[in-house]
Amino acid sequence: MTIGLFGFGCVGQGLYDVLNHSQGLQANIEKICVKNANKPRKIDMSYFTYDKTEVLGKNNLDVIVELIDDSDEAYKIVSEAMSNGVNVVTANKKMLAENFESLYKLQEKNNIALIYEGSAGGSIPIIRNLEEYYDNELLSSFRGILNGTCNYILTRMELESKNYDAILNDAQSSGFAESNPWLDVAGFDTLYKTCLLTVHSFGMILKPEQILNLGIQNITFDDIVYAREKGLRIKMIGTGYKVGENGNGKFRVYAMPHFVIAKDELYNVMYEYNGVEVEGAFSCKQTFVGKGAGSHPTGSAVLSDISALTYDYKYGYKKLKKQASIAGKLPNGELLDNDFEIKVYIRFKDKAEIKDIEIISVEEEYKSTRTNYIVANVKFKSLFALKGNAESKVFVCAV
Ligand SMILES: NC(=O)c1ccc[n+]([C@@H]2O[C@H](COP(=O)([O-])OP(=O)(O)OC[C@H]3O[C@@H](n4cnc5c(N)ncnc54)[C@H](OP(=O)(O)O)[C@@H]3O)[C@@H](O)[C@H]2O)c1
Repeated sequence: MTIGLFGFGCVGQGLYDVLNHSQGLQANIEKICVKNANKPRKIDMSYFTYDKTEVLGKNNLDVIVELIDDSDEAYKIVSEAMSNGVNVVTANKKMLAENFESLYKLQEKNNIALIYEGSAGGSIPIIRNLEEYYDNELLSSFRGILNGTCNYILTRMELESKNYDAILNDAQSSGFAESNPWLDVAGFDTLYKTCLLTVHSFGMILKPEQILNLGIQNITFDDIVYAREKGLRIKMIGTGYKVGENGNGKFRVYAMPHFVIAKDELYNVMYEYNGVEVEGAFSCKQTFVGKGAGSHPTGSAVLSDISALTYDYKYGYKKLKKQASIAGKLPNGELLDNDFEIKVYIRFKDKAEIKDIEIISVEEEYKSTRTNYIVANVKFKSLFALKGNAESKVFVCAV
């Protein structure tokens, strides 16, 4: 395999190391395109270019591996490579989730592979399993801790009895959180991964704006104490599940903090680890646990994709094609159900902060001068008022 690589950061360097230790795969990186010409590099400078056409224009490449941190530029690189008929491996969940339909069409049109195991669940082989192993299984749900940064912060808040800001600062200095952590802590990263798992679980393409994501950015130690007193843990979870009759039912898909009970397999998934539970009619519940991010774990998922290309692997999208044949077009949201009631814990300072949430009934209420919370059944749709709202200080957790 001759590889053209974009990006030599955390994952790109991880891939380079993993590739050097791989005994089975005969592959070499021909050229690496990066952005910053002044950065020192750990390997010979002759590998590098700062001009993307130098990689995209090569005609001896078997695969282009895209591992950059700019999703708009990544989309341009990936679509150009695919239009040139070159197979692509990527780990860029934001780019994939935001452009899924057009990337899917490009694959079909050019009959080439775009594979992306590293984009969800880090080292956990979840996408190919959903696509292949659960192909004929009547999958009813997936639910996963998909963001290592959120899980790391939640774990340390609980185990060290500390506040969010203290742990976030520490996580940033030790490399477990980005300097701008918004996409992680506000639930967007979990949302993008949830979009991808929805395609491979249920054959449904959803746009990120169609799915609710709420994050942990407003969590306080009071919320951890509330959970702890009830024997629960708070976990940031992306989930998708079927409702109604099999085959013609609808799907609920969202990403938000959840209380989990001690018997839940996800309860003991701690620190930067990820865990995904899949439930099928015959297989029942199965849980995958592994490192959710990081240089070598993600590099190994990328290597596995490169290796899969040696036997001409590509996603068959059988569930997506089946849904499309039923609907007469690519399904993009018609089967999504956002119109239901959900029980949530809502912590807020002032009632005005939650005026847009349609509350149906309150089961528990606590008031004090410092903070207030309710446990209530609410209209799920109304929670969209908090999606991506950087002004809001409200914390919401599914009960
Ligand atoms: N980090 C993880 O654990 C992890 C896990 C799963 C998926 N991912 C995904 O993997 C991708 C890479 O993440 P990362 O953590 O490796 O990022 P990173 O450490 O920030 O590295 C980004 C790399 O992209 C290069 N780059 C940025 N813009 C470019 C452009 N326009 N043209 C060419 N190169 C460009 C940078 O070049 P310079 O070196 O010159 O700055 C750098 O080498 C992202 O999509 C991320 O979401 C990451």
